[in-house]
Amino acid sequence: MKISVIGLGYLGATHALAMAKLGHEVIGIEPDTSRLSALQAGKLPFYEPGLDEALVQVLEGGKVSFQAAHDAKSATCEVHFLCVGTPQLAGSNAADTSFVFAAARELAAVISKDAVVAGKSTVPVGTASRLKQEMSEVAGFEVNLAWNPEFLREGSALEDSLKPDRIVVGSWNAHSVDMLRDVYKPIIISGTPFITLDVTTSELVKVAANSFLATKISFINAMAEVAEVSGADTVALAEAIGYDERIGKKFLRNGVGFGGGCLPKDIRGFIARAEELGVGSAVDFLRDVDQVNLRRRDRVVELATQELGDVKGKQVLVLGISFKPDSDDLRDSPSLDVALRLETLGAKVRVHDPMALGPLGDRHSQLERADDLEAGFVNADLVILGTEWAEYRALDPAAIGDLVANKLIIDGRNLLDVASWQAAGWRLIALGRNVHN
Ligand code: UDX
Repeated sequence: MKISVIGLGYLGATHALAMAKLGHEVIGIEPDTSRLSALQAGKLPFYEPGLDEALVQVLEGGKVSFQAAHDAKSATCEVHFLCVGTPQLAGSNAADTSFVFAAARELAAVISKDAVVAGKSTVPVGTASRLKQEMSEVAGFEVNLAWNPEFLREGSALEDSLKPDRIVVGSWNAHSVDMLRDVYKPIIISGTPFITLDVTTSELVKVAANSFLATKISFINAMAEVAEVSGADTVALAEAIGYDERIGKKFLRNGVGFGGGCLPKDIRGFIARAEELGVGSAVDFLRDVDQVNLRRRDRVVELATQELGDVKGKQVLVLGISFKPDSDDLRDSPSLDVALRLETLGAKVRVHDPMALGPLGDRHSQLERADDLEAGFVNADLVILGTEWAEYRALDPAAIGDLVANKLIIDGRNLLDVASWQAAGWRLIALGRNVHN
């Protein structure tokens, strides 16, 4: 099928390549010139495992092309996926949907009558019906709009796109469902549930899923707060409750909390939308979810201050600044936030990350980079592990112990083997665990 994918960030770029891998002819549309020229040159503008190989493969196979705006060729596509971002509005909890509306209007000006538009962006519930109305006004006919939320995770984005847990399609007519069923045919044949529902519910599925996931993480981090004062061990607790299949072990890793471009902004956007709908109290608990999450960052800063007496002038190494491993995404990264706050308190902060290597931007320009992992430890008074990259787990505590000024580490992700670090003479502080020596 001929498909256009509009907006080529993490979501759109991955979706475009996944569609091309399924055999469709894909046109990716991205107005940002640096992102566009990178993709045209076969380079991904961000790090995502396996995606660069997929890009080269589908470009060489002629299955995908990238352009800045619609043209006569993209106008003839049978399905258009809207993958434009909905960032948090400055000074507000609400999501900024202006980019989605702008992209939808541009598309409506060229779209053909039988084509289907599938919205993938995460939007406040009720957005799709306004979009349909605006697009139909611009097009001069009723546009076939469907909502098809995306659940991919950074770090496993391509795999999640090609083998999702489910495909959700909300629609106003059978034609849209049929077209999307055709698009996803190879995935559906392999056994993935294809769930059709009304558009409003499909919009809600995405924010509800992310709210649930965020709540699960904050639940275990709330237990960590209790564990820290009562002497319990949150990691052991999570394992013990996780054996109950109704609870499950996944998404129960306590630590410095969740970040990234989705969970924090989605729960805040949901709070704002529920308030607009007059049911703010229904999701009031999400405020606590947000607060518990942010308090974990405070806790790491507090522990650093307690352990060092005063952080001023002290050398701190932060291991990992991406918001999660196997990603170079710094959006709302808990560990980067901790690094910046310690720097504000006067610490000399060095950061290391295996992949988030790009410029840290103005706000982060004072942070020193440790491009070499071992060199980063030299003379450190404190090490903070903020992102659970596999290579940090593989560190040899005895060897690196000789490099530091002070064998002190805060494990913000409960990644390290406590016994071997302690045996090597380190004072290891694990969040939510009373295992300190
Ligand atoms: C999330 C959703 O999982 C995905 O379905 C949606 O499409 C986009 O948002 P993503 O942000 O890529 O995906 O990462 P995710 O794996 O959900 O992790 C989010 C954050 O939670 C990370 O900072 C991670 O470190 C943290 N996390 C996750 C925990 O602190 N504990 C856990 O047990 C799991």
